[in-house]
Amino acid sequence: MLTPKPTQGDTEWFVHDRFGMFIHWGLYALPSRHEWVQSREEIAPEVYRQYFERFNPTLYDPQQWAKAAREAGMKYAVITSKHHEGFCLWDSAYTDYKVTNTPYGKDLLKPFVEAFKAEGLRVGFYYSLIDWHHPHFPIDIFHPLRNHPDVAKLNKGREMPRYAEYMRNQVQELLTQFDIDILWCDFSYPGRHYNGLPGKGHNDWESEKLYALIRDLKPRIILNNRLDLPVAADIYTPEQVQPIEWVKVNGEPVVWEACQTFSGSWGYHRDEETWKSPGQLIRMLINTVACGGNLLMNVGPTSRGTFDRRALDSLAVYRDWMALHGEAIYGCTQSAYEAPQDCRLTQNGKRLFVHVYAWPFKHLLLKGLADKVAYVCFLHDGSEITLKSSDWATHQLQTGGDTLILELPVKKPDVVVPVIELELK
Ligand code: GLC
Repeated sequence: MLTPKPTQGDTEWFVHDRFGMFIHWGLYALPSRHEWVQSREEIAPEVYRQYFERFNPTLYDPQQWAKAAREAGMKYAVITSKHHEGFCLWDSAYTDYKVTNTPYGKDLLKPFVEAFKAEGLRVGFYYSLIDWHHPHFPIDIFHPLRNHPDVAKLNKGREMPRYAEYMRNQVQELLTQFDIDILWCDFSYPGRHYNGLPGKGHNDWESEKLYALIRDLKPRIILNNRLDLPVAADIYTPEQVQPIEWVKVNGEPVVWEACQTFSGSWGYHRDEETWKSPGQLIRMLINTVACGGNLLMNVGPTSRGTFDRRALDSLAVYRDWMALHGEAIYGCTQSAYEAPQDCRLTQNGKRLFVHVYAWPFKHLLLKGLADKVAYVCFLHDGSEITLKSSDWATHQLQTGGDTLILELPVKKPDVVVPVIELELK
């Protein structure tokens, strides 16, 4: 079993809890065409402002969100305090481009933090390093004005240090006005040049100063890896990919968290059709924990302030499965044993969990486990599974003596992914 080296942030609760909710919410919920809509469609700030003037999520009820997250088995939530568009979900003293100046007129983050904590969840904030609204953010490859004919002129007078200071001020607000456990900064692209416009990395963000400020205010907060710094991050964050082995950095295993979407877009996207199936959703969670990682699964709320039906249905998939199988996720990690055909393993001490992806006929063969197991049962209903030890089966299946043979019902149990629990001696 692998154990990453400790870092400064407190990841002990994090690697136990394994499953969190990402929330991408901002003005982009109105156009409902991806959170990058302003960049993709090169929408000028004065045009994008129409969404700011109409942002009014009167149905926002963070208690409902928190309940849905808790019921889905999620133990923490990370919400966008500001995404690349630059719009702030709290009453920041350093900008007018914030929720309190929209028709809604109220801070969104205070009630969010309260509601999620009341449901027993930990809270983190995503904070975008990129900002397409700030007047001192130099136009670059991703900026909506990158193809403007006067881009050089528009960039004159934009002073990156002033923007870097703005970020420090805002991060200071977030870390002093709210009590949070994770800060998720996004993202750096130092090598990405475009028509003579340089990308941005730690020199531009002044990441060293930002990092010092964060550690000063919250020494043990969990900080992710997107500030373009050489220091070890608390968590590494593969995005929209599923690692098939423990994530390593410079050859060393690290604490990691895959972030994923239900449908391919982070922000609410009305016409996106690539919603994942129940089997995919559950397998993504298992695959992650089987490789020693966490899963941060995203919901993009609507501009009314609700989770739409498709998101609720996806959350219900997790709710139903996690209600019966949470023990095979929380506190679990990668196992040193070899997974049988079509299976994944997760392990918590002497409890070894076999997640069966394709239901076999009658027998499951577990190499290296003969004589090591005291008891076997299904996790969903606690029903005993008997061990097949007769010479007859071993002979017919041509297994070695170190293989444990389980006798399974012919029919797959009625859960998305059945889990068999082995109690090790
Ligand atoms: C990205 C995207 C983004 C999303 C994030 C989540 O880097 O820019 O829209 O917030 O990944 O990991």
